[in-house]
Amino acid sequence: MPSVHRSNFSNHQTQFSERKQKIIQQRKSLPIASVEKRLVEEVRKNDVLIIVGETGSGKTTQIPQFLFDAGFCRDGRVIGITQPRRVAAVTVAKRVSEECGVELGLKVGYSVRFDDATSESTRIKYMTDGLLLREALLDPYLSKYSVIIVDEAHERTVHTDVLMGLLKNVQLARSSSVSDGQGLNFGNKNVNNVMLEKENDQGGNFLKKPRHEKFAPLKLIIMSASLDARTFSEYFGGAKAVHIQGRQFPVDIFYTRHPETDYLDASLITIFQIHLEEGPGDVLVFLTGQEEIESVERLINEKLPQLPQGSQKLLVVPIFAALPSEQQMRVFAPAPSGFRKVILATNIAETSVTIPGIKFVIDPGFVKARSYDPGKGMESLIIVPTSKSQALQRSGRAGRERPGKCFRLYPEKEFEKLEDSTMPEIKRCNLSNLKALGVDDILGFDFIEKPSRAAIIKSLEQLFLLGALTDECQLSDPVGHQMARLPLDPVYSKALILASQFNCLEEMLITVALLSVESIFYSPRDKLEEARTAMKCFSSPEGDHITLINVFRASNDFLEKRSMEMSMAKSEKVYRKWCKENFINSRSLRHARDIHRQIQGHVEQMGLNLSSCGDDMLQFRRCLAASFFLNAAVKQPEGTYRALASGQVVQIHPSSVLFRQKPECVIFNELVQTNNKYVRNLTRVDYLWLTELAPQYYAMQN
Ligand code: CDP
Ligand code: MG
Repeated sequence: MPSVHRSNFSNHQTQFSERKQKIIQQRKSLPIASVEKRLVEEVRKNDVLIIVGETGSGKTTQIPQFLFDAGFCRDGRVIGITQPRRVAAVTVAKRVSEECGVELGLKVGYSVRFDDATSESTRIKYMTDGLLLREALLDPYLSKYSVIIVDEAHERTVHTDVLMGLLKNVQLARSSSVSDGQGLNFGNKNVNNVMLEKENDQGGNFLKKPRHEKFAPLKLIIMSASLDARTFSEYFGGAKAVHIQGRQFPVDIFYTRHPETDYLDASLITIFQIHLEEGPGDVLVFLTGQEEIESVERLINEKLPQLPQGSQKLLVVPIFAALPSEQQMRVFAPAPSGFRKVILATNIAETSVTIPGIKFVIDPGFVKARSYDPGKGMESLIIVPTSKSQALQRSGRAGRERPGKCFRLYPEKEFEKLEDSTMPEIKRCNLSNLKALGVDDILGFDFIEKPSRAAIIKSLEQLFLLGALTDECQLSDPVGHQMARLPLDPVYSKALILASQFNCLEEMLITVALLSVESIFYSPRDKLEEARTAMKCFSSPEGDHITLINVFRASNDFLEKRSMEMSMAKSEKVYRKWCKENFINSRSLRHARDIHRQIQGHVEQMGLNLSSCGDDMLQFRRCLAASFFLNAAVKQPEGTYRALASGQVVQIHPSSVLFRQKPECVIFNELVQTNNKYVRNLTRVDYLWLTELAPQYYAMQN
């Protein structure tokens, strides 16, 4: 073998073992490392344990490994760790598989909606809480798990709250199954069969021990970064809580003198100010979503060349849910020598993922949150001020490794006005998803905090209107059950089922996939006209849904043609170029294509009829009307619109292809609330179709 190769090889090996050494070192230095034995002991002693620990102390990455090493995966059982966010599940699983020195998807894996990296041999499984809820529908005992860790419980997402309630039941059922063989009542007829499975006779066993290895007791761990463990402890009947000492350096907090009118602009100025005036250290900026992040990313990169020579070493790395997972990992890599890293993150970086190297935090003080008005039955995403506890968590990110600084982009007196903590999501969302998540009796469910009765009733009413419930409030057959099988919002599930009857499932599938991601169009502030012109070749006078389909199909045609001619890498490059020329966000489109592939798998399995309506877009628009009749709006004399279900006055969002046309009647998919209420993603429909296709609703209205 030529010597060059040999030296290269050994070089590679040195690098590899250096990295391994570094990881061992890092693990040892985490605050949690010194309490491994005690933690394992507490888990053995307590069936429910609450673990509270500062962000970055090592809870998420280390505890599953401790439990694995302590033998909690014997007999092939699995430790499941749930996360409210898919980004966290994916990045942490990657990190832990590296720490364990194994390939991702073997011993350590992750499973999130539309993306599964697990195998038969997976023992430490990171997943979203929503995914575990779906698993519980198929296996109400969650029999393969020995331990379930509900992580980030302080976030109090709907999924986390529901999961805690279900797990309480599973635990009870599993421990009682060992002694009395009582079934678990989830309204699932198969449960008792599973339970009473015939035992193999084991000769020589005098004491007839029930054979319930399957239902060995389940250990439950609730992990939280907020110091208040009381709520969780009380909910689990006075469960024990242990606190892990964190390590936190002082963080200087700075406020602005006056309120900022444009926090994106203010963020940009602060980033450059830090970069030019402060010593080394990376910057973490909290923004509210993908669009903001991408716009700030672009602005920084545009302004960078104007900085003095020698000050241009700034590396921007975004992180948000829809980012492809290879790119998410970039935030953890150190910046090249001499560079300062600026991380633009959603509130994912608040507690879910710990990014090393941060010394400066910029906190504009906002977060995107779900909001629901049960009176109007309308859910919307709105940008709201953070709570005090969120602001504290954010500033804490600056002091993980050494003293840091946090710049809050609002005056100090505003901080005092913030709510102490964030209201649990279950109290501000549409609950129509709950049925599909396995909550049979929403009014009687043991919630950690009960949603309002009005909200529950409104959501049941909505499911009923979609045909998913019977008069007795059970899932209807087949529609309700079919809807529950799809990992989508009830309205979207219903749309797919209807589309197979309207012979336009192909079109609806594309639509639902594209509506599941953030906008695939991007229009930079300074190139609005160009973007508009580019969009023209896709836009349909009938509305945004058909426009979206046109883009999707055009990208398909483009990719098919090119991929025959060139290599993968090359075709990736031309694909990005094509997107750029057409002002299309290649990341979002790619994500949508991924989702499309997965839902297609589901509907095929369900035996739905995957046909296309061809050029008959009238048929497709009628199907949209039949599907989204709850979101219809009619034009009023002065040019605004009235949403029929809620009576709210809304306007067409400027990004819609119907913005100028103002048709008489539209259906829409999204309500965005800024200073005005805007509806987005619209299609022109005929009012008469609504009364024809949704008479159960429009007859009632009249
Ligand atoms: O869960 P908790 O906030 O307590 O901490 P963690 O997520 O387990 O993180 C522990 C350490 O692992 C932190 O110091 C992170 O910097 C590091 N980590 C990493 O380097 N790469 C990741 N993908 C995740 C964590
Ligand atoms: Mg964590």
